[in-house]
Amino acid sequence: TDSKVSTQKKTFPEVQAERLEQAQRTVLINCPAKIDERKFLKYLSHHGKINSHYFYESYGTYAVVEFSEKDSITSLQDVTRMPGIEEECAVPFKSRVFTLTLKNLSTQAADQAPVHCHKQATILVSELIQKLCSADSVSNQLYTLMDEYQLTEENIKLRFLVCSLIQDIACAYFPESTVKPFGSSVNTFGKLGCDLDMFLDLDEIGQNSTRAKTGAFYMEYQMKRVPSERTASQRILSVIGDCIDNLGPGCVGVQKILNARCPLVRFSHQPTGFQCDLTTNNRVALRSSELLYIYGSLDSRVRALVFSVRCWARVHGITSNIPGHWITNFSLTMMTLFFLQKRTPPIIPTLDQLKALADSEDKHIIQGNDCTFASNLNKIKPTENTETLDVLLGDFFEYFGNFAFNKNSINIRKGKVQNKPEPSPLYIQNPFEQTLNVSKNVNQSQLDRFVALARECAWILQQEDKGHSSLSNSQPWGLAALLLPSVTSNSVKSKRRKRGPTSERIKNLLDSLKINNENSLVNNGGKRTFSNQAR
Ligand code: GTP
Ligand code: MG
Repeated sequence: TDSKVSTQKKTFPEVQAERLEQAQRTVLINCPAKIDERKFLKYLSHHGKINSHYFYESYGTYAVVEFSEKDSITSLQDVTRMPGIEEECAVPFKSRVFTLTLKNLSTQAADQAPVHCHKQATILVSELIQKLCSADSVSNQLYTLMDEYQLTEENIKLRFLVCSLIQDIACAYFPESTVKPFGSSVNTFGKLGCDLDMFLDLDEIGQNSTRAKTGAFYMEYQMKRVPSERTASQRILSVIGDCIDNLGPGCVGVQKILNARCPLVRFSHQPTGFQCDLTTNNRVALRSSELLYIYGSLDSRVRALVFSVRCWARVHGITSNIPGHWITNFSLTMMTLFFLQKRTPPIIPTLDQLKALADSEDKHIIQGNDCTFASNLNKIKPTENTETLDVLLGDFFEYFGNFAFNKNSINIRKGKVQNKPEPSPLYIQNPFEQTLNVSKNVNQSQLDRFVALARECAWILQQEDKGHSSLSNSQPWGLAALLLPSVTSNSVKSKRRKRGPTSERIKNLLDSLKINNENSLVNNGGKRTFSNQAR
């Protein structure tokens, strides 16, 4: 049913800790596509028990192998040789990324079929539209889209593995540091191909040292002093950025973007195809990822609607992977959550209600911002709202197609419309840094495009409700109709009237989508994938 309650009851920090620990027992091996999987596992199991493994493709075939014990990795490293490169020289940094070759290529690979690879990218929009058309309700279309787009278990594991590989590098300087994923990799709204946001956590350093209560002396580290936390972050990221550039196998295109509002190091991790952003001193973002995780885990309709809205926005160029005056995925998610808080009865609680359920362990004040809310999903009462996603999708477009953006702001803390405190076209209050606007970058024309498109989509769904479109013919309908490029036209109505035979029209539309997709194909990890999956 639409109101299925998630069975996942672990808290966000519990899930993170479990996955990070698992990642530390895992290795990444570039191997031939044609390999005897049984022999390969037997060979590796000399170093210890293997818990799980899978293969994927990205500039070659890779195996992700999780050992049962961390010691197995040391044992594997002990027998691994340094590469014998004739003309180049290798930087001798021993990581957990390996290359495995066959000793006798001609005999060993001759009769082998290629190994089964797990998918790491979404299907093309044209294929998605075809799949959506064979669903039996709009509601199931939304779930189909989510099933196709969401991160797979293997992809999530790979994201944690990359964090753990970067942590190995950071630990060379800061042995107690950790690197944790945040943003859409972990907030339950991530789409295959989304970037990997990483947080270099140095706060634990020194936390455990207990001050000697007896004796006549205090002992303190001598440390470099810098004028601000921002400067400290910039210096740390600069050094770690250099290390990633110089030592990290497969880390390419390293850029240090230290003057940004939140300083970061950006790079591509070639073995996985992930675009990575490493930040530090960004604990509020980690907390907002947890908040979104909670909302996404409360009711299956939340994720289904957010995925569809994000996909719809990307297909129509409302969002982009290039920074600019566009609405971001984060802002769109806030808008969708707000809409779900405004239903009667509400589908999800407000942030203030989650704060009221918090206990002492949930109390978090970060840089003066109150980031307190209940972490325990079991404490949050499931909603009594039973509306279907058919209704919610239509009402979402109706709601924001008619929202008074000129005077009102969106606030998921209160779940209430409020007067805008300043005249930005779109004002979405930052839930934690409450004086900030999450969508300050959005200009009037981008907002107008969003509103016009939302109105058109509300209109299309209403026409279908009135029986103007039949589910029995093969015309794209429901969510599929909203993803077609024709919807961006100003004269959807006149176009509809003029349309040719149904099958011809679908064929033309799908062909045009294919052409558009071909134009925007990017080479993601050796695979040709649709460019809008980047974000
Ligand atoms: P993708 O587009 O799939 O990458 O979504 P995302 O949620 O990961 O967004 P992004 O990579 O842009 O940012 C990562 C995280 O940083 C978000 O999940 C938020 O927690 C935080 N963040 C992003 N943009 C903003 C913003 O404008 N304001 C604030 N306060 N936090 C932001
Ligand atoms: Mg992201």
